Amino acid sequence: MLLNASGCLDALTAPEVARSLDAFVTKTVTPLPRDGNTPVRIAETDVGMLNSIGLANPGIDRFMTRNLSQLEKLGVPLWVSVGGFETDDYAEICLRLDDNEEVAAIELNVSCPNVEAPVESATEIVAAARLATRKPLWAKLSPAVPDIAEVARAAQAAGADGLSLVNTIRGLKLDTATLRPVLGPGHGGLSGPALKPIALAAVASCYRATEMPIVGMGGVQTGLDALELIAAGARHVALGTVLFSDPDAPARVRTELHAAAAERGWKSYDDAYAVAHEEVLSSRTTT
Ligand SMILES: Cc1cc2nc3c(=O)[nH]c(=O)nc-3n(C[C@H](O)[C@H](O)[C@H](O)COP(=O)(O)O)c2cc1C
Repeated sequence: MLLNASGCLDALTAPEVARSLDAFVTKTVTPLPRDGNTPVRIAETDVGMLNSIGLANPGIDRFMTRNLSQLEKLGVPLWVSVGGFETDDYAEICLRLDDNEEVAAIELNVSCPNVEAPVESATEIVAAARLATRKPLWAKLSPAVPDIAEVARAAQAAGADGLSLVNTIRGLKLDTATLRPVLGPGHGGLSGPALKPIALAAVASCYRATEMPIVGMGGVQTGLDALELIAAGARHVALGTVLFSDPDAPARVRTELHAAAAERGWKSYDDAYAVAHEEVLSSRTTT
């Protein structure tokens, strides 16, 4: 499946892009409306993009009454990304979404809350969400933790059905004239090409630790990038930053993905699943 990364596509202003995906993932929704951080919120760097959006969203009430009914009309399976600052925030939103037939899955944005105790935080949030809903739960993890496989195992034990890997990693850009931070809040989340090796490593270690279904994301620009994530252990791939510069990326990446798999002798890109973990039978080892 090809999805968008949360926060990287506004399906209501670009419905045709959303329809070119196998599922649309919403921007993270929190219990109360949030204006987000002070501008500037987006900056380009040589190796990707920095954002400090700060979870700007209409809040769950307006999301349910206004956004959700419009999103349902897209005819694309909907994944709702859920965020919060306390465990109860997640449980409350999951409970509200549970009865809604249009919501195919819930992605728990557990990347933010307690960065000092990521394992405990993931356990609490996933367990509370699990009690609140029967919908498939995908835990979205931050790569900025000492051992992401440990967090993945905790999410699995608490009842997650899959993992979304990875969220952004903290970065800073300075204005070259003033040498002051470009972004309003100072630092921001780095996404795009710089994240690809980090995403590959996270997917590979979480695959080995859990064998759970994984949505891989981080710096995917081409079909070959997507195929690499699949080889590392991702079942699905999400497009993020690339959508800002290339709204046609879903169709292009799909075509390139099929071609990249065919070039390597596979009928389908699914055949590349987790091959990075198989031993390489080189001519030296076989003779
Ligand atoms: C502008 C922007 C907004 C984002 N908003 C969210 C968000 O609301 N929730 C979330 O879980 N991730 C959010 N992300 C992170 C992306 O979903 C994704 O994990 C990350 O950008 C890595 O993928 P990429 O390198 O392909 O962009 C955001 C990223 C960007 C660039």
